[in-house]
Amino acid sequence: MANAEGVGGRVSGIFRKKSIGQIQAEHEHGELSRSLGALNLVLLGIGCIIGTGIFVLTGRAAAQFAGPGIMISFIITGTLCAFVALCYAELASVLPVSGSAYSYSYASMGEVVAWVMGLLLVLEYGLAASTVSVGWSGYLVSLAKDLHIIIPPELTAAPGVAVKDDMGNVIAHGIMNLPAVVAIAAVTCLLIIGVSESATVNNIVVAIKLTVVIAFIIIGARYVDPSHWSPLIPAEIPARAPDVPNDMWHQILRALGAVVTGDNSHKYGVGGVIHAAAVIFFAYLGFEAVSTAGAESKNPAKDMPIGILGALAICTVLYILTSAVLVGIVPYASLDNPAPIATAVNHIGLPWFAVLVKIGAIAGLSSVMLVLLYGQTRIFYTMSRDGLLPNALAKVHPKFKTPWINTIIVGVLACGAAGFMSLDALADLSNVGSLAAFAIVCLTVVYLRYKAPDLQRPFRTPLFPFVPFAGAIMCAVLLMSLMATKATREFFLIYLVIGAALYFVYGVRNSNLGRGIVVGGHEAEPMELPHKGE
Ligand code: ALA
Repeated sequence: MANAEGVGGRVSGIFRKKSIGQIQAEHEHGELSRSLGALNLVLLGIGCIIGTGIFVLTGRAAAQFAGPGIMISFIITGTLCAFVALCYAELASVLPVSGSAYSYSYASMGEVVAWVMGLLLVLEYGLAASTVSVGWSGYLVSLAKDLHIIIPPELTAAPGVAVKDDMGNVIAHGIMNLPAVVAIAAVTCLLIIGVSESATVNNIVVAIKLTVVIAFIIIGARYVDPSHWSPLIPAEIPARAPDVPNDMWHQILRALGAVVTGDNSHKYGVGGVIHAAAVIFFAYLGFEAVSTAGAESKNPAKDMPIGILGALAICTVLYILTSAVLVGIVPYASLDNPAPIATAVNHIGLPWFAVLVKIGAIAGLSSVMLVLLYGQTRIFYTMSRDGLLPNALAKVHPKFKTPWINTIIVGVLACGAAGFMSLDALADLSNVGSLAAFAIVCLTVVYLRYKAPDLQRPFRTPLFPFVPFAGAIMCAVLLMSLMATKATREFFLIYLVIGAALYFVYGVRNSNLGRGIVVGGHEAEPMELPHKGE
């Protein structure tokens, strides 16, 4: 790795970089033991991937945007994620440390890009945790109803959001999503007292989730009515003048052009399938979480690619089959509700199985929230130790040995988002942040190949430069489709502008790298991190 040092040659100003050797040294202080093998990494990935995306968003995206074409949406997004995963695998094999994409950016593109990556990861982890909590709330409310416990509908959705029953009928409008807030608050408390992912608990939860999903596919397949799959892509409901052509090419152009016009009418048609691909992108989020376990992997060069790609491959197959069965059992229009998988199971007349699905979803989504919020606190912790965020975020509780102030701040913000933002807005924003982060990861691979051609790369992205460029372009296309929604576009741009301003007000002056403080010289206290092999 001797030539790795050259990559991180320190430059002054906002593009100063950590050397790869420095990042590796920072993580070589024995806090974490290298105990995870390939299978554990695959299970870690599946544990974080299967969640609100498949349990909730799939049904809603089918009903609102793609119809049965949701199967094609899953193929599109699965392909995109495969490209991105190959890029992650290369970077994870070069830099098998925790901190993930933030650390990769710091070592390659420089501090300001690392900062932007940090901002994007807040959407990918923090806001994603809130998104999952809203899905969790939907299944909890549905299960409670089965048990004849009625939670007032106004307290089950964000302000103004229509609350629908299992059949999609509007029964009230929300004031706040109380169960989602309670879920995030509970997970925050667990994180403060130091309960984090343990390999054993994760494996049990993964087993429950896989059982539920596979049982749904096998049992549901017997009730599929193929006529529900036709037409595969329902005709676009046009927001266009009647004399404008409506062939596939024009539909794609309109989907992309919507970014400029702010027109969000991707109702079915090819534009709808692309938009649904961007929405259900959320279902795939988490495969890169495997890369955050780089510091705990026994043999990162070999096991990281297997962990990332293996988890992604298994979930892609399950997702395509689940979506096919889901829209095959019931007309897609009936799936726009908080617990669509349960709706489909109820439809085939197996109430006991619907209850099992709900229990499985609630257990499965809990672990996803835990992993995402944990990831968010780790990102803030790392940024704080780098001096880019205030020291308090790296303060460790004397008894629990966790970054408690950091965790409380993350928890409060995530509670606010969970209680007062709609599922669609949350999912769109976390998708936007993640797609932008993934595009940067793809471009980082290209950048490093040219900047540091001799760098030792235990895993190399195949078909270079096609794979990283295709990954980045596909991310950009889905990003543009989501940015067609005015509220998403405005929030994202304002968020980035305020975030960038904070860097120039705080980060650039306090950066340890900028002040010449290196490993061991910063004031942050080392944290005792629970390792995933426990
Ligand atoms: N992929 C995860 C989910 O769908 C984040 O909940």
